[in-house]
Amino acid sequence: MKILSIFGTRPEAIKMAPVVRALASADDIESVVCVTGQHKSMLDQVMHLFDITAQHNLEVMQPEQTLNSLSARLFEKLGPVLEAERPDRVLVHGDTTTAAIAAMAAFHQRIPVAHIEAGLRTGNMQQPWPEEMNRRNIDVMGDYLFAPTAGAAENLRNENLAGRIIVTGNTVIDALQLTVQRIRSDVALQQLLDAEFPFLADARRAGRKLLLVTGHRRENFGAGFAGICQALAQLSERDDIEIVYPVHLNPQVLGPVKAMLSGRDNVHLIAPLDYLHFVRLMQHAHVVLTDSGGVQEEAPALGKPVLVMRDVTERPEAVASGTVRLVGTVPARIVANVAELFDNAAVHAGFARKANPYGDGRSAQRIVAALTGVPFTEFSSPAGASVVGHARA
Ligand code: UD1
Ligand code: UDP
Repeated sequence: MKILSIFGTRPEAIKMAPVVRALASADDIESVVCVTGQHKSMLDQVMHLFDITAQHNLEVMQPEQTLNSLSARLFEKLGPVLEAERPDRVLVHGDTTTAAIAAMAAFHQRIPVAHIEAGLRTGNMQQPWPEEMNRRNIDVMGDYLFAPTAGAAENLRNENLAGRIIVTGNTVIDALQLTVQRIRSDVALQQLLDAEFPFLADARRAGRKLLLVTGHRRENFGAGFAGICQALAQLSERDDIEIVYPVHLNPQVLGPVKAMLSGRDNVHLIAPLDYLHFVRLMQHAHVVLTDSGGVQEEAPALGKPVLVMRDVTERPEAVASGTVRLVGTVPARIVANVAELFDNAAVHAGFARKANPYGDGRSAQRIVAALTGVPFTEFSSPAGASVVGHARA
C-alpha cells in the first residue's frame, strides 16, 4: 500500500513526524512524503530534528502570503505529485491551508484521504480562522477520521460522520514523549541546551521566573496582538518575571511584537526555536501564555499551567481538567491571570498538575495499525469532554 503524507507547516510536521516514522518501519507500506513548504525555516527545523526526508518539496511559501494565493499555488503543484505517485491513500493532518487543499486535490483525483487530528471544533467559523472551516471540509472528504479524543469523535458523530471514526490520541504526545525522553536521557544535552539560553541563569540569579509566550493566530492580528503586547509590556514592569517569546516569523506578528516590546531587559524576543529547544524551555517555564493549538496540548502533559489568549478553544479537555484557562486578548485580563499564577502558589499548584487528556504516546502506532488492518485498542480519553471551551463560560 502506498501512503502519501502531505504537510507543510511547523505543527503539522511535529505531529506527523511520529506517523512518518511508524509508516517507514511498517512492512506492508511504501511511505512517500511530500512537504508543501507552506513554512520554510520553521518547517526545515522539524524535518532536520526528526530526520525526515521528503521525496517532494513544493516550496510554495512566499513572504506575507495570502490564503488565496497560497491555495492556488498548492493546487497547481499538488496535482502533478498526485498524478506521478498515484498513492492508495493520502494522509493529511489538522487544519492548515496545506491540509485542506491537499485533501481536496486528492479528492479531485478520487484518491482516499485519511485525516489525522479529525473532529476538533469550536463551532465558530471565525475562531480560529480559517482553521475551523479547513478542518470541517477535510472531515467531510476523509474516509478514515483519526480523532484524538472521545470528544472530537463525538463532534464528528454529531455531523453524521459516524462509521469512519477511530480514536487514536494525538500524535503530538508521541512527539513530545520522544523529545522529553531524548532530553532526560542525556545530561550533556541538557547542559548544552540550557547554555544556549543565557537568560535562564540571569533569571535564577535575580529570582525571576519564566513566562514563556507564543502567539500567531490570524484572528488575533491587529487589535489582538496590540492587546497581547500591552499586557506583556505591563507584566515586564514586575521584577519577578522573565518573559521569553520565540516570535513567529509572520510579519503580521513579528512587526508589532518587535515595535512594542523591544528594548526591555527582562523581555527576550527570540527566533523560533527548534522543537528540542522549545520543549526544554517549556520544562523551565513557570507559566505558559499562548494562542497555539499544539502548546495547549503539550504544556499540560509537562505539568505546566497554560493561559490561552483566545476566546474559544477546540481543545476543551485540558480546560476541563483545570490545567488550561482561556483568557482572551484584553490586556487587563491577561495581566490579572498571569499575576495570579505568579503571586499565588496555591493557584499555581492547582494548575500545575500533569494532565494527559490528549494522548499516551501510542497514537502513531494506532494510526498505522488502522491503515494496515492490524487489531489495536482505541485511545480512551476522558469522557464528557466534548463541550467546547469558551473564555467567558
Ligand atoms: C499557519 C497555519 C496555522 C498554523 C500555523 C502554525 C494556515 C491558514 N495557517 O499559519 O493554522 O497554526 O501555520 O505556525 O494554514 N513565514 C516565514 N517563514 C516560515 C514560516 C512563515 O517567513 O518558516 C512567514 C511568511 O511571511 C509567510 C507568513 O509567515 O507568508 C505566514 O505563513 P502562513 O503559513 O501563511 O501562516 P501562519 O500564520 O504561519
Ligand atoms: N514550537 C516550536 N518552536 C517554537 C514555538 C513552538 O517547536 O519556537 C512547537 C510547539 O511545541 C508546538 C508547535 O510548535 O508543537 C506549535 O506550533 P504553532 O503554535 O506554530 O501552531 P499551532 O499548534 O497553533 O497550529
